[in-house]
Amino acid sequence: RTSLTILGLESSCDDTAAAVLRIEGDAPTILSSIVHGQNDLHAAYGGIVPEIAARAHAEKLDICVKAALNKANTPLSKIDAVAVTAGPGLIGGVLSGVMCAKGIAAGAGLPLIGVNHLAGHALTPRLTDGIAYPYLMLLASGGHCQFLIVRGCEDFNRLGGTIDDAPGEAFDKTARLLGLPQPGGPSVEREAMQGDPARFRFPRPLLDRPGCDMSFSGLKTALLRARDDLIAAQGGLTHQDRADLCAGFQAAVADVLAEKTRRALETYLGEAPPVPAFAVAGGVAANSAIRTVLQTAADAAQTAFVAPPLALCTDNAAMIAYAGAELLRAGQCDDMTLAARPRWPL
Ligand code: KG4
Ligand code: ZN
Repeated sequence: RTSLTILGLESSCDDTAAAVLRIEGDAPTILSSIVHGQNDLHAAYGGIVPEIAARAHAEKLDICVKAALNKANTPLSKIDAVAVTAGPGLIGGVLSGVMCAKGIAAGAGLPLIGVNHLAGHALTPRLTDGIAYPYLMLLASGGHCQFLIVRGCEDFNRLGGTIDDAPGEAFDKTARLLGLPQPGGPSVEREAMQGDPARFRFPRPLLDRPGCDMSFSGLKTALLRARDDLIAAQGGLTHQDRADLCAGFQAAVADVLAEKTRRALETYLGEAPPVPAFAVAGGVAANSAIRTVLQTAADAAQTAFVAPPLALCTDNAAMIAYAGAELLRAGQCDDMTLAARPRWPL
């Protein structure tokens, strides 16, 4: 088939999303991409509450699907297939999405495709920039952190990743420790702009070890200690203390990501890809200091740097529809036995 119109659903974390994507030949067009966040529901708890997330997904999925079809000006009768995140993620949310997708697929007699959420992120640079396989990918979000060589829609080579917290999670915890609003990434970045990154020297974990594995949980412990030392000495934190702590923390994360990126690029370029490209996805890629060091590493390796627009770097359903389309074209298809998987490594 040369033209394909796909409905995508995403509900694996704290965003309920639906999208309609059309692919003519090799050219994808996002006809609509609706994302309904849940920040307000979880704000009072200082983190995502799985039961609340699942209930909100179950309530909002139908509304998002209708909105996506409406905005795309596409009735269900014009949809060719339904793609849905089948994992990994919070199981209640994934289940809500899979059941909703099964209902639509069964009701309308459409093929159903279960998509790995991480594959959705990993294939996004093809959706936004049309880059060719194989490319190097850094996925850095609130829940994930890994380097992948992406060779095909079902062919991923994981070079390394975090052995504990994801970097976005570290930003969120840092914000919490300093009394800054959630999500932590943007508020820590804002503070860091007015801070001195040299005042506090935080650890750069695992740089002394070969490979691309990373660790970010020790950083927040170091930050906690520095904060408590200041409080013990002065009775509190000044605005400048806060800014300097954020700047020191962000510099440490950026240094780790930069060095591990250099190593990942070395491995990737060792395979002599015909058109070298390094792409990022995940909310952490929104950080301009981090973006700058990644761009610098790519430039030094004479590799194109691809950073999709932020709305497609963070959780969305257009990426799920796109990954579903690639899988469908590769001959993949699921049926009513499609299971929701809390864990699903690429
Ligand atoms: O990809 P994403 O929207 O959701 C998943 O985790 O799947 O990423 C959200 C994460 C949060 O931890 C947030 O604090 C972080 O990305 N983030 C940032 C920035 N904007 C969002 N981290 C650092 N700097 C930012 N500007
Ligand atoms: Zn995600």
